[in-house]
Amino acid sequence: MQDIKFKRPTWIYPVGLFFYTNKLHLIAVALLIIIGLSILSCAGPDYKIESISSSEQPAIIKHASNEDIATGSLKLEELLAIGEQIFNASFNTLDGAGNSKTRLLPNQSELSQINSRFNRISGPDANSCLGCHNLPSSGGGGDNVANVFVLAHEFPNANFDQGAGDKYEKNRLSDIGNERGTISMFGSGLIELLAKEMTIDLHNIRDKAKEQAVLEGSPITLQATSKGISFGSLTAWPDGLVDNSKIEGIDEDLVVRPFSQKGVYVSIREFTLDSLNLHHGIQAEERFGSDVDADLDGVHNELTIADTTALILFQASLRAPHFAEPESESDKAKVMEGDRLFSEIGCAVCHKPYLELNSPIFSEPNPFNPSGTLSDYYIPEVYSIDLAKLSKSNAIKKTDAGTFQIYAYTDLKRHDMGPLLSNEKREQRFVDPSHWLTKKLWGMMSEPPFLHHGRATLLGEAIDMHLGEANSSRLKYDNLSEHEQSAIITFMHTFRTE
Ligand code: HEC
Ligand code: HEC
Repeated sequence: MQDIKFKRPTWIYPVGLFFYTNKLHLIAVALLIIIGLSILSCAGPDYKIESISSSEQPAIIKHASNEDIATGSLKLEELLAIGEQIFNASFNTLDGAGNSKTRLLPNQSELSQINSRFNRISGPDANSCLGCHNLPSSGGGGDNVANVFVLAHEFPNANFDQGAGDKYEKNRLSDIGNERGTISMFGSGLIELLAKEMTIDLHNIRDKAKEQAVLEGSPITLQATSKGISFGSLTAWPDGLVDNSKIEGIDEDLVVRPFSQKGVYVSIREFTLDSLNLHHGIQAEERFGSDVDADLDGVHNELTIADTTALILFQASLRAPHFAEPESESDKAKVMEGDRLFSEIGCAVCHKPYLELNSPIFSEPNPFNPSGTLSDYYIPEVYSIDLAKLSKSNAIKKTDAGTFQIYAYTDLKRHDMGPLLSNEKREQRFVDPSHWLTKKLWGMMSEPPFLHHGRATLLGEAIDMHLGEANSSRLKYDNLSEHEQSAIITFMHTFRTE
């Protein structure tokens, strides 16, 4: 506990001055200035605005057209500003918000149609991306109040009122949706680039094994390792088949999926297209087709392909988190000790301090995007962003070889975290409920609470729930002295976005 010292109230000082100096005329002038300023401040704020709209307007005032992008006529900064505007906009009916429950539930009364414009469980569950992603600022993580019930959109109009009509009288909340906390996009462009390079490495290993198996006429087993992370092994057969059953921590297609806490999304783009539809009922042209009014709300091309690109580039270019540098020598020493212990007890096996990135140039779209998300679409080079230049952060270190060490504290691999973190009833994309992508730790102190469901408000609580593959490092943490545990906590307190 720190000492709280009694402070003399500040109003004492002028009184003291009055008695202890003979420069009364100076004090009189100072008092006059103070009185003058307080009179001025009573004049009130200026409420004037240039013009007031006489009709209701959509929240997205400026769209980007696909032609704008194809011809490169918009400056990168303009495109980013459009992306930021979309991320922060409170979507309304004129933007096409709401996913027309009338289509899903045709026999609704007018009242229930109105009610179903918003549904906190099955969506649409928010008005803006910013509504959830706001810690410590736009693009960041979210408070538990913004948790999402992942997959609950498959049960439109869930209300649990036990009355007839919604068809879900027998379900509980956990039967229909997996509750997850909002995570941040700070530094996410770099994460996507790392995963893409890893996928390319793994595919190259697979191709090499196939080639060798044909050449040698016998099965070839190779380790599937990229950037020092082992994803198990694969065996290629001379007939061209590949056995991926020994691949671990990613799917058998050898694509590293660094987004969502389950690790099931390839790119910011793939995730964003889902978010737009599920949270806001905004159907992007790229997912639902050009000039198609998929939700029958009278609005077509609710977001153009170019708008989506703007929204992605805005998120990808959000600055990377950083590590606060302590001023006092004693704090510095403690942080260094915590850093050393973090590795020594095995935390760094999964929370790998850095992964090495070959190229920091972010461009859209990701070639490994699944169908429904653009994967080969021409975007001019002016919209390629050098993320290392843009993000001046001590979490990005350039090496002599010209590569970049990205200190995100993750291996981008899924791990079995044991029974205490296996709370979800609905399996997502065939991933075991106890398996989670190693959480990126950078920035975490600016985005509490912790873990996939936000059930840890303290770092110690998050560590206590580490079982499964993380059990041995948790036990080692438990066996540290109080001073050593506090060094690890001090070290983790330097992981900030702001
Ligand atoms: C109701 C709250 C909520 C709203 C609104 C919301 N998100 Fe999210 N977002 C989340 C949650 C929760 C997650 C984590 C999901 C998971 O782990 O499965 C997430 C994850 C993401 C991710 C993946 C980040 C990562 O590192 O894995 C992206 C990208 C994203 N959101 C973009 C958006 C965009 C763009 C919008 C607006 C169109 C949006 N979100 C609106 C709650 C929200
Ligand atoms: C086997 C891999 C593994 C090991 C070892 C491991 N972690 Fe984790 N860690 C994870 C995963 C996966 C998550 C996300 C779990 C979830 O959200 O349910 C996580 C989450 C966390 C979080 C929460 C971060 C946030 O923003 O939500 C903290 C803090 C943390 N780990 C610290 C540690 C410390 C300290 C150690 C060493 C004692 C450690 N971890 C060892 C895999 C690991």
